[in-house]
Amino acid sequence: MLIWEMTMSDHPTFIRDKVNLHLQDVLAGVRDLPDNSFDLAIADPPYGASTQATWKLENGHALEGFGGAWKLASHDWDMFNGLDGFAFTLSWLNELKRLVKPTGSIWIHSTYHNSGLVNVACQILGLEIINEVVWYKRNAFPNLSGRRLTASHETILWVHTGKDKREYHFNYDKVKSAAFKEDNLKEPGKQLRTVWDIPNNKKPDELEFGKHPTQKPLRLIERMLLISALRGGQLLIPFLGSGTDVIAGLAYDMDCVGYEVEQEYFDLACQRITAYLETNGADLQMELF
Ligand SMILES: C[S@@+](CC[C@H](N)C(=O)[O-])C[C@H]1O[C@@H](n2cnc3c(N)ncnc32)[C@H](O)[C@@H]1O
Repeated sequence: MLIWEMTMSDHPTFIRDKVNLHLQDVLAGVRDLPDNSFDLAIADPPYGASTQATWKLENGHALEGFGGAWKLASHDWDMFNGLDGFAFTLSWLNELKRLVKPTGSIWIHSTYHNSGLVNVACQILGLEIINEVVWYKRNAFPNLSGRRLTASHETILWVHTGKDKREYHFNYDKVKSAAFKEDNLKEPGKQLRTVWDIPNNKKPDELEFGKHPTQKPLRLIERMLLISALRGGQLLIPFLGSGTDVIAGLAYDMDCVGYEVEQEYFDLACQRITAYLETNGADLQMELF
């Protein structure tokens, strides 16, 4: 069961056994939660990668089939400038530091737009970086402008709140013996490296209720849980999106608490999770690998 009682709410919520989701700004939502409530947090924040620009790829360019006007990725929730973005990063990371137990850990997704901010924020807040992971996306979308390299990776930080004691949970043996289908860099019986070869495509059931523009493949989150999760523990998801982390957390028998500001994505996550619970509700303790 979840560890605290929900009182009267001024915003929409989705509450089931083991799931507690809020259509609410995360900073407002977590403000009154008690310290050291969670065993794990997975943060996939806004990257500041959006732009209001559009551009046209002239016909006759080198990439056959891609001609015409392209609207670049533009989402209000993903727009911030450097200083605002840094202040926001410090605020939510500081809350995660307060909320995650010293025996737990925090995973933070980023791209080149915000990875520097996240790294510096962790250091300022005294969150020790356990590893910096490069998620290699071998099927990344090509760079249409021909003026940059094709961005084919994201950076993920694994950090803990326990300072010098380093009590964070690490399922070392399970990770070492694991074999990951499609990952050409991991050999069973060998330690997992910090470059993860995980294609960014999703299975049909991950997209059944719609797409989120930055939806992560379930396989990526499952790997984070295999490394660091405590079966039956408490999982905090500050930026819910389509609910990928909740699906992975439920398969690990975790209690999941999440926040999302966009109604469209909140509804998508709720639909996804409802369908998952209907199918797997009686079998939540399955082994992931
Ligand atoms: C990078 S996406 C997360 C995608 C998610 N990992 C998935 O697999 O679908 C970040 C999400 O955070 C939401 N968001 C942005 N600012 C927020 C805030 N202050 N509080 C809660 N959610 C926020 C956005 O609407 C967006 O859906």
